[in-house]
Amino acid sequence: MIAIAKPIIGEEEKRAVLEVLESGQLAQGPKVAEFEEKFADFCGVKYAVATSSGTTALYTALLAHGIGPGSEVITTPFTFIATANSILYTGARPVFVDIESDSFNINPALIEEKITPKTKAIMPVHLYGNPCDMEAIVQIAQKHELIIIEDACQAHNASINGAKVGSFGTGCFSFYPTKNMTTAEGGMITTNDSEIAEKARILRAHGSVRPYYHDVLGYNFRMTDVHAAIGLVQLEKLPQNTLKRIENATYLTDQLRDYVITPQVKDEYVHVFHQYTIRLKEYRDEILTKLNERGIGARVYYGVPIHQQPIYRKLGYRDFLPVAERISREVLSLPVHPALKKEELDKIVTEVSQVCSMQE
Ligand SMILES: Cc1ncc(COP(=O)(O)O)c(C=O)c1O
Repeated sequence: MIAIAKPIIGEEEKRAVLEVLESGQLAQGPKVAEFEEKFADFCGVKYAVATSSGTTALYTALLAHGIGPGSEVITTPFTFIATANSILYTGARPVFVDIESDSFNINPALIEEKITPKTKAIMPVHLYGNPCDMEAIVQIAQKHELIIIEDACQAHNASINGAKVGSFGTGCFSFYPTKNMTTAEGGMITTNDSEIAEKARILRAHGSVRPYYHDVLGYNFRMTDVHAAIGLVQLEKLPQNTLKRIENATYLTDQLRDYVITPQVKDEYVHVFHQYTIRLKEYRDEILTKLNERGIGARVYYGVPIHQQPIYRKLGYRDFLPVAERISREVLSLPVHPALKKEELDKIVTEVSQVCSMQE
């Protein structure tokens, strides 16, 4: 089976981990600090705060911005569940805005009608590595004095006109093994606001302002030096691996555009293809089964929009979000990761074009 994702771990990562293990400094220490500094530089922001996962990065960022019970946060229903769950954890209410059918991202034209006096923040998600329309979202946020917390968990190195995602508001990244770079598990918050960075640092380490003095209710959301050591190596490889993803995606689009609806990329946007996601107007599930039978690890991200997930139904969500609901029945992601060989790319093209032609 040609896997949908493959973490690429080389000798450098292994050596880096061994070095940390031999140093005796295993938990959060100098490697985390170095990783934070380099990641902040990479994103073009002043501060970065490492956490234990993308989910804890999102949750900590929301808390650092003072979001809690009584607040509403506008976000997309078409994302991984952790986006909306991080809002729920704080006691705030996620408010879902429908998506654009071409970018799969939150539709800025529909945001303002969902703003109420309780709205405190917008949480756009750069889904599949494709940046949201941040110009429009920043404008709305400024007009209504709202915070922006970008869920950039799938979008390391994505950019608009040279500005990296995670630099338009407070950014949150995941380093889960399937992501464009990994630390095994891990996350990062990026910001230009020193106060938010400081609050996030305190929250991730038991609310500790100085050793054994606890001003606020904090958590243990720290990253370890073992994980940061992997992240430092992976960050160096990220530009090269991003280019390879884009090259693979370009090839797939050139070969498949006559058979399926291929992903759209706007001018001046760098889509980093965490996922290469096509649309099929009909027979998506049949095509998925056939591709899997033929050794192509195609997957659906995401088959059920968040407002229709059982847990959100139980919480009373009854939204009708027609674009997200339709798109969730049409999307199919194909392998695009940098470890793919040319023969594997060609096999994906052959099988997808054959299977799609059979369904016509
Ligand atoms: C869009 C999105 N948000 C949040 C997360 C949560 O990240 P993590 O799995 O590192 O907690 C993920 C990844 O799994 C994600 O894809």
